[in-house]
Amino acid sequence: MKTHVVALANQKGGVGKTTTSINLSAALTAFRKKVLLLDLDPQANATSGLGLPKTEGASIYEVLLGNATLDSKILPTAYARLDIVPAEVDLAGAEIDVARGDRYLHRVREAVRPVKESNAYDFILIDCPPSLGILTMNALAAVEEIVVPMQCEYYALEGLSVMLRLIDELSSSGANPHLRLEGIVMTMYDSRTNLAQQVVKEVYEHFSDQVYETLIPRSVRLGEAPSHGRPIIDYDPSSTGALAYRQLAREFLTRRNLRWQEEAARPRPQRAATASQAPAPTPTPDEEPPRQPSTPSTGLPECD
Ligand SMILES: Nc1ncnc2c1ncn2[C@@H]1O[C@H](COP(=O)(O)OP(=O)(O)OP(=O)(O)O)[C@@H](O)[C@H]1O
Ligand SMILES: [Mg+2]
Repeated sequence: MKTHVVALANQKGGVGKTTTSINLSAALTAFRKKVLLLDLDPQANATSGLGLPKTEGASIYEVLLGNATLDSKILPTAYARLDIVPAEVDLAGAEIDVARGDRYLHRVREAVRPVKESNAYDFILIDCPPSLGILTMNALAAVEEIVVPMQCEYYALEGLSVMLRLIDELSSSGANPHLRLEGIVMTMYDSRTNLAQQVVKEVYEHFSDQVYETLIPRSVRLGEAPSHGRPIIDYDPSSTGALAYRQLAREFLTRRNLRWQEEAARPRPQRAATASQAPAPTPTPDEEPPRQPSTPSTGLPECD
């Protein structure tokens, strides 16, 4: 199995990078794919959004400085086939420490290489911070594919042009000749507003080949799920957000000519033993009662 390393990046803040990282990762596991989510953002939102604590010393930081291997930082999540390298606030210091060292643009590439070459995962997804600092640049120098989550709002295209310039620079300078914009995922789509429809139309006109057909709707449940430490396909499997991320995963695999139908026919996974680490979910009024961590669970719903 070949490991695809993909960065979820957009220097604009709050556009859905982390929501897409978490939920695309989880949805891919429901298609029997094995995924490592690398949280490269000191905010550690992907880490907490999957129910893991922010623990000092647990992030990729020491690996970037050459003092540890990435392998030693990989943790299981509560979900079968989904592992994570968590982040924590100290990772912010990496911006400075990495910049001081040599080969400062290639630290993430070198950190990821042994795990990539072990082919233990189908995908390594990297959740980038909202900046074009050293961490994001390192991620972009480490991957062959960038997926840009883009909010359906007026200034969205401006952010994208910055990303495109950067991809050009990284590939023409030789820092990462194979880098390409693989896809654009339109997020927080609200079909009731003309603006969202106009933005989607405009993005399709300019980037028809790259834009994913799946639109991620704006949904209260998607916004709630991270506070319960759960991906949407576990938190509310029949919600519009869960259906959208499942559809996105299907499109993501189809684009790469990866087989998923046959593989998905295998038996249901069990939640991993670390389920007890996840915080107990708090119910909202329209939600079913929360599962207790000790209750045996069926794991993420599988896809067809
Ligand atoms: N489709 C959606 N519907 C409703 N809320 C959403 C949706 N996608 C994201 N959100 C919410 O919007 C906020 C920003 O999303 P998210 O954290 O995924 O963006 P980000 O690009 O990772 O942000 P940052 O740049 O700070 O890392 C979060 O509160 C998230 O829960
Ligand atoms: Mg984020």
